[in-house]
Amino acid sequence: MPLVTSTEMFKKAYEGGYAIGAFNVNNMEIIQGITEAAKECNSPVILQVSKGARAYANRTYLVKLVEAAEIETGLPIVLHLDHGDSFETCKSCIDDGFTSVMIDASSKSFEENIAITKQVVDYAHAHGVVVEAELGTLAGVEDEVSVSAEDSSYTRPEDVQEFVQRTGCDSLAIAIGTSHGAYKFKPGTKPQLRFDILEEVQKRLPGFPIVLHGSSSVPQDYVKMINENGGHMPDAIGVPEDQLRQASKLAVCKINIDSDLRLAMTGTIRKYFNEHPGDFDPRQYLKPARANIKELVKHKIVDVLGSDNKI
Ligand code: G3H
Ligand code: 13P
Ligand code: ZN
Repeated sequence: MPLVTSTEMFKKAYEGGYAIGAFNVNNMEIIQGITEAAKECNSPVILQVSKGARAYANRTYLVKLVEAAEIETGLPIVLHLDHGDSFETCKSCIDDGFTSVMIDASSKSFEENIAITKQVVDYAHAHGVVVEAELGTLAGVEDEVSVSAEDSSYTRPEDVQEFVQRTGCDSLAIAIGTSHGAYKFKPGTKPQLRFDILEEVQKRLPGFPIVLHGSSSVPQDYVKMINENGGHMPDAIGVPEDQLRQASKLAVCKINIDSDLRLAMTGTIRKYFNEHPGDFDPRQYLKPARANIKELVKHKIVDVLGSDNKI
């Protein structure tokens, strides 16, 4: 099966009350860990490439590695641009074979966001590619852009209908309290997503797929593994997995996870070197890192997203 768009996936996910995992990819081992997990769970999956990942690996490698994963697994895989910052970046990814792009103009004014999103939608749809847009801003760091908690803002449900109608976007990322990175909530506070906003949005856009960014749960086992093996991470708090499960049952069809994979990979490699200080063969330390990414993704698919056995 060639790479697919998310249209069918989201339709089934919405109706079935589950979500598709969208995992960020930067190299071969991450792609293998994620897709081996999806294969074992018989789950559709979205592999997403940020502008930074594309700059790191160059524009060809990740596309070819994702195509290889599709050949190896036969899974329905979406190749998605995460946080496209301009029409030009989105166009370049569409021309390279991505099946889905995000245009993130959420930091711009409502009218500017509509204009740039519509421009991307027109080009994407003419090429059989789907578009995710964003309304509302998340706190945290993505690529070189850092948004402080004070500058973040929840999505206003009263804006979503007009935005979707005027842009023609295929899915919408909203801000309901998640944020990017490993430090999402103040230590000592109780994380709580704004389900009231999600429900309001769902009421105004019945059947329309909603996306949650910044949805890592920050597994404490891996934070501990990093800190017990020479790392110095302060208290890191993520989104509780039961709240992600709840969101998956509502209109949320795509849940973005990157930081959790980074923690699993880094924790595993730090531990490996602590235990094998003399080793210098990359395969020896990347193998357990890939295996732990696979375990983590299986857990997300089965226990959080509910996308197992949905092919
Ligand atoms: O939302 C951002 C993703 O975690 C990608 O991060 O821009 O450092 O690749 P990155
Ligand atoms: P996390 O930092 O919570 O993994 O979010 C990733 C994300 O939203 C990618 O777009
Ligand atoms: Zn994001």
